[in-house]
Amino acid sequence: PRSVWLSRHGESLYNLYGRIGGDADLSPRGHQYAKKLPDLVRKSVGGDRPLTVWTSTLKRTIQTARFLPENYNQLQWKALDELDAGVCDGMTYQEIKDVYPEDFVARDEDKYNYRYRGGESYRDVVIRLEPIIMELERSEDILIVTHQAILRCIYAYFMKKDQSRSPWMNVPLHCLIKLTPRAYGTDEERYQADI
Ligand code: G3H
Repeated sequence: PRSVWLSRHGESLYNLYGRIGGDADLSPRGHQYAKKLPDLVRKSVGGDRPLTVWTSTLKRTIQTARFLPENYNQLQWKALDELDAGVCDGMTYQEIKDVYPEDFVARDEDKYNYRYRGGESYRDVVIRLEPIIMELERSEDILIVTHQAILRCIYAYFMKKDQSRSPWMNVPLHCLIKLTPRAYGTDEERYQADI
């Protein structure tokens, strides 16, 4: 690809309450980000060519993409849904610590391989993203609006970091990342929304 654009969904109501997973709507700040995203994208594209937008199937990513121009085609991928936290879906980290203390420690000790009960690990996510990465590699001008864990894995791939380091990639809220692969490494630009 010439460039790939990455964005997390705007802040969701679950982000606000510190809950993981779920399928919450955006918070008021998240909606503000959705409204600002078209301008951030225009600024970063440097021209008027339309991008193709890939979201997950969850409401918060679709809501984040909804003000992008109408000539941007949008596609939803189940494979872009957030890391499945299994029985911990919808809990806060404090609740997980109280209810599943051994799991909390195990995840801290090996975050890449730790698989939530009835859910996924980062390693599982890397594997489920393989078809997405293949499709990305042969596409141009894709903007991906998805979730933190998923973007960490995609980011690590394009930045040529070892996949096992994915859990520690810094992918903040309300920030558009433009990655441009070059012969010797990948150029990165970040556009933070002021909200
Ligand atoms: O559960 C998914 C979160 O977006 C990732 O956060 O892997 O740092 O707990 P975490």
